[in-house]
Amino acid sequence: MPRGPAYTPRMFYSWYATCPRGAEPAMELELAELGAKGIRPSVGIVRFTGPREVALRACLLLRTALRVLEPVGEFPAITADELYAGVAKLPWADLIAPGQTFAVSATGRTEHLNHTHFVELKIKDAVVDTLGRRDVDVKAPDVLVVAHLGNGKCSVSLDLVGDLLSNRGYRVRTVEAPLRESLAAAMLLLSGWDRKTPLHDPVCGSGTIAIEAALLASGRAPNEQRPLACERWPRTQGDKAVLDKLRAELRGRVVKPPEILASDRDAEAVAAARENVQRAGVAVRVFQQDARETKPLSPAGQLVMNVPYGERLDAGGRKQLKSFYHSLGVALRPLAGHRAAVLSASEDFESAFGIRPRGVRRVLWNGPLRSTLYNYEL
Ligand SMILES: C[S@@+](CC[C@H](N)C(=O)[O-])C[C@H]1O[C@@H](n2cnc3c(N)ncnc32)[C@H](O)[C@@H]1O
Repeated sequence: MPRGPAYTPRMFYSWYATCPRGAEPAMELELAELGAKGIRPSVGIVRFTGPREVALRACLLLRTALRVLEPVGEFPAITADELYAGVAKLPWADLIAPGQTFAVSATGRTEHLNHTHFVELKIKDAVVDTLGRRDVDVKAPDVLVVAHLGNGKCSVSLDLVGDLLSNRGYRVRTVEAPLRESLAAAMLLLSGWDRKTPLHDPVCGSGTIAIEAALLASGRAPNEQRPLACERWPRTQGDKAVLDKLRAELRGRVVKPPEILASDRDAEAVAAARENVQRAGVAVRVFQQDARETKPLSPAGQLVMNVPYGERLDAGGRKQLKSFYHSLGVALRPLAGHRAAVLSASEDFESAFGIRPRGVRRVLWNGPLRSTLYNYEL
């Protein structure tokens, strides 16, 4: 059986965390706060260094991250043969223990390798051939191999968590266009909210922003209770004890958050948000209201919202949406002393809303949707 070179733990002092594109500045701050060093951002990914404990902390604490990755190798991969050969050289027998299953998730492309599914299959074949076993489980693998192709290279990593960190588990019911939890967290971190004044999302949909706000303000680690894939790996069996210690430490840090409100005009959305709030175990008051009837918070606080963008609306719908943005601006303008952070994917939003934003307009990608985060002082 072919076998790669022996595994060297030294290479694991460098880590990657991925996030929604545009959220990198927020994740850099989060990483610095948890003690990461050598922080180097690029698009949708931030590299950092530190002992293994820092990467484990990142898994429990990062609000903006999608994955925390342990890099295992990088090599040129212009052709499928190069991809196969590069993967086959990695020490799979050391990385995937006997009896454990794996799956492959790939992103990116190179000139000749531009079909993600093909890339995943090629990588899987190389791992199976190197290991001499076929322990693939695409639904719940013990080891998720994450590959990224770009600039003629392939970088291969293992996902410490095994699933997207944004799937927090509290969203049991959604309505149209829910935000990824990690993107909602990035909006909150980039809004400049002090986490002490009240917060309201008046177009709350399934309640993601308000729930993330409650987790943030109470100091609750978003993934504290989440079992991590790496706890099951025999190679890193020390992780479980470190994580148990971190979890106990994090539980001791929880504080009482300020008042957090979530409302929507749609009864279905209100019901979904209530259910999700309950599942998340946070204190958020959810109610039905038209956003154009938003009342001042006491004391003055922060509004954070992701306005409807109506990507499927026809021309008449677009006009209606512009008129909604305008009347929302008219309704929010009198809320003296409040701040607002609005994420919009509509090019009509800024002028129709009619209030001049403060500071930089940040581009945040909501999946494939290019959106802008505007901050306002009302
Ligand atoms: C883009 S979705 C918000 C998604 C939400 N951030 C989430 O994660 O689920 C926009 C929401 O605005 C609500 N909405 C539309 N017009 C409204 C209005 N006039 N007042 C209050 N809510 C409104 C819709 O019902 C929808 O739930």
